[in-house]
Amino acid sequence: MTNRDPLLDPVLDPAAMRKQYRAEGLAEQDLASHPMDQFARWFEDAARAALHGTVYEPNAMVVSTADAAGRPSSRTVLMKQFDTDGFVFFTNYDSRKARELAENPHVALLFPWHPLARQVIVTGTARRTGRDETAAYFRTRPHGSQLGAWASAQSSVIASRAGLDAAYADLEARYPEGEQVPVPPHWGGFRITPQTVEFWQGRENRLHDRLRYVTQPGGRWKVERLSP
Ligand SMILES: Cc1cc2nc3c(=O)[nH]c(=O)nc-3n(C[C@H](O)[C@H](O)[C@H](O)COP(=O)(O)O)c2cc1C
Repeated sequence: MTNRDPLLDPVLDPAAMRKQYRAEGLAEQDLASHPMDQFARWFEDAARAALHGTVYEPNAMVVSTADAAGRPSSRTVLMKQFDTDGFVFFTNYDSRKARELAENPHVALLFPWHPLARQVIVTGTARRTGRDETAAYFRTRPHGSQLGAWASAQSSVIASRAGLDAAYADLEARYPEGEQVPVPPHWGGFRITPQTVEFWQGRENRLHDRLRYVTQPGGRWKVERLSP
């Protein structure tokens, strides 16, 4: 630790890490009327940035859940679909996140597009996707990922890496490449219906733009500006 002490090496000192964000802002009149259309615009920017290597995995998002007692937990997942109704990701239904969502459907999503000085923060509720939608997506996954979904009892404590590798090897022997892998019953999607969607654009001098869509009765959306 001695030669990596942030006090001795300013390159490692988080308190000294300071970026000036760019001047280009986000104005109310430039927003789409529906937050998912605005998301589509920003997602396109992030996807284009990924083509140039500026952003890595633009569809990676942090999902925060909470148990029935309100204790939070967060993890990264890959958003696999979005449309007017919201965002979809896939996971193990016995995982911690899925168990928490069964107790408490309230969820927050965060897209951290740091190289663009942008983040999108969503709050809403999650429900399971239908089995047909899950199966359709499962079929698009690489064979190895399909087997991985069977091999992993996600979020449970396991004895060793060797046990996991052995479980995978057994599955590989049973379902060689080219053989159809059934959709695991404990695996599937969650669709997040947004209640608020905040578009955050970093600006100079920490005077960032924060525009938040809030759902209104009748399916309308109100936009409010938040202080940075
Ligand atoms: C970039 C990235 C993408 C990930 N994508 C997924 C995903 O799509 N689905 C998933 O279940 N876990 C994904 N993970 C693993 C999760 O972060 C997490 O470890 C796992 O889902 C178990 O979380 P839980 O125990 O809180 O339920 C991803 C991790 C990273 C770093």
